Amino acid sequence: MTSTAWTGISELVTNDPTHPEADGSPLGIITQAAVVTDGGKVVWVGAQHRLPDADERRDLGGRAVIPAFVDSHSHLVFAGDRSAEFAARMTGEPYDGGGIAVSMAATRAATDDELRALVGARVAELHAQGTGVVEIKSGYGLDVDNEARALRIAREFTDETTFLGAHVVPPEFRESAGGRDDYLDLVCGDMLAACAPHARWIDVFCEPNSVYAFTGEESERVLRAGLAAGLELRVHGNQLGHGPGARLAVELGAASVDHCTFLSDADVDALAGSATVATLLPGVEFSTRSPYPDARRLIDAGATVALASDCNPGTCYSSSIPFAIAVAVRDMGMTPAEALLAATAGAAQSLRRTDIGVIRGGAQADLTVLDAPSYLHLAYRPGVPVARKLT
Ligand code: NIG
Ligand code: FE
Repeated sequence: MTSTAWTGISELVTNDPTHPEADGSPLGIITQAAVVTDGGKVVWVGAQHRLPDADERRDLGGRAVIPAFVDSHSHLVFAGDRSAEFAARMTGEPYDGGGIAVSMAATRAATDDELRALVGARVAELHAQGTGVVEIKSGYGLDVDNEARALRIAREFTDETTFLGAHVVPPEFRESAGGRDDYLDLVCGDMLAACAPHARWIDVFCEPNSVYAFTGEESERVLRAGLAAGLELRVHGNQLGHGPGARLAVELGAASVDHCTFLSDADVDALAGSATVATLLPGVEFSTRSPYPDARRLIDAGATVALASDCNPGTCYSSSIPFAIAVAVRDMGMTPAEALLAATAGAAQSLRRTDIGVIRGGAQADLTVLDAPSYLHLAYRPGVPVARKLT
């Protein structure tokens, strides 16, 4: 294997405050730094004047380097287009989850190769904007074969795959009175059996405020079935209004509850006293013209916060983590440092990973370089493509 020394780093964000040369802040910043990578791992981190020998040397010309963003929430396996739904929302239509059936129909109609090409292009787009590991959910198949197919294709791109058969009740189960229960039987039975081999996680759209999504009781049933099948838990909760999602996530020991737009004081306290990460998805509030979640309140209470894209065709067709960071800083009460930490280490924690979201010896060599001297430029230069994945 060939070791590479990355030099000329004006500011290196390690997320490792224990490094002896770091500045003592949670971001663990080292100035005039270098990193050595080898075989997909970080093997050395420190001040450039102490750089050890390496097989090759690449100078970054005074740019900042950060841990690649970890996108812990995306729905990249879909076909079709819902730009008209977005345009309607901008003139006042509310979001209620009804459009998911439109993406479902287009996704079912796509061939494997078409879906694979769509996911590949989206993953390339996200790397080009500085993201390393991405979590990818199913949820636009909503029958046994199409959910399993979505996860098989997602697995070609990431180990962080999530079964979201309980995204909404599909139209064919909405007609009869017992349709919802029949669909839940399918999700917790044959669909779970077909999907579990291709998934690490199970997720549910726990949202009593949408007629298409699931109540607290229904969500608990899905999550418990997933646990019994060996999957780990994530929850879509508290997106459209107050509800039981965050509480349920904490009670069942989920790794993360995502959205967290409408939280009661009890929800915030429960999250703060738990290992469940509160994942915030600012692109959703931007694209649905909803109030932003209150990150400050969560951080001040002691909860761990992550930022992710939620890239999906309905509520947020953006894979840009720098955009999420800029909004979080501008409108959600986060400092630039907190936002970067949430989009790297926080998101890694929400995936229960210690080998990503950090630059230290032994970590995965997922480095992102900025066309800027400091990480502050991520929020300072919104809409400008300053970040790209380096390794
Ligand atoms: O995370 N809220 C549920 N699911 C997605 C949106 C899905 C869609 O509208 O296509 C979300 O926002
Ligand atoms: Fe989502």
